Amino acid sequence: MGLKKLVTGNWKMHGLSADLAEIEAIAARAGQYPQVDVALCVPSILIERAVRAVPGFPIGGQDVHHAVKGAHTGCTSAQMLVDAGAALTIVGHSERRDAQRERDEEVRAKAEAGLGCGLDVILCVGEPLEVREQGGAVGTVLAQLDASLPADPPKEAELAIAYEPVWAIGTGKTPTTDEIAEMHGAIRRRLVERFGTAEGEGVRILYGGSVKASNAAEIFAVPDVDGALVGGASLKAADLIPIVAAAARQPG
Ligand code: PGA
Repeated sequence: MGLKKLVTGNWKMHGLSADLAEIEAIAARAGQYPQVDVALCVPSILIERAVRAVPGFPIGGQDVHHAVKGAHTGCTSAQMLVDAGAALTIVGHSERRDAQRERDEEVRAKAEAGLGCGLDVILCVGEPLEVREQGGAVGTVLAQLDASLPADPPKEAELAIAYEPVWAIGTGKTPTTDEIAEMHGAIRRRLVERFGTAEGEGVRILYGGSVKASNAAEIFAVPDVDGALVGGASLKAADLIPIVAAAARQPG
């Protein structure tokens, strides 16, 4: 495929002023791997300070509201993320699909809102354990994808899909490399069907769920794995940078 790998940290609800030094360390050390795109999605209240701390390094949000503005207490619009200096946002993370009951249609509207404001978007999909055990993982994820993808074909690199099996997030468990290959291949074929060859093949497909230094190399070697969305192991440069280095060692 030859897509440049993308390693994005998802800090979830972690990060205070005291952690800006860690963001600076991550950005500085990531700069030693120009063959990999690296970004950090931090709590929205930390975005502006993070952007000031690491100018030029992509900082993102973890969610965005689908509306431009309005009576949505506690929510953040795409324009607000851009205004704070964000370059990207995650949408449809399973923790939000679960706890905030976000549906595919809403995730799609969020993706379109982010792209419409010039943000890069990482759109998450993934199956729960019982679906995997019943053999329905690929069908479930493709159905999520069909209903959550933005309407328009994405322009270069602005959209990435993160395949994150719900049961692999924060658990230390990961699918086999064959299972990852099967899912990423199915996602790739669906993207090509939906958007056409050039656009569909240009969308990076990230794997997420318990990625760490010790498993990153074998995951990045799987066909159609174009990077990773990393939670727990993204909080410290010492944990994240070896993952970036593993991505850098993969032929593009
Ligand atoms: P994890 O989280 O790396 O801690 O499993 C990944 C994610 O939820 O994006």
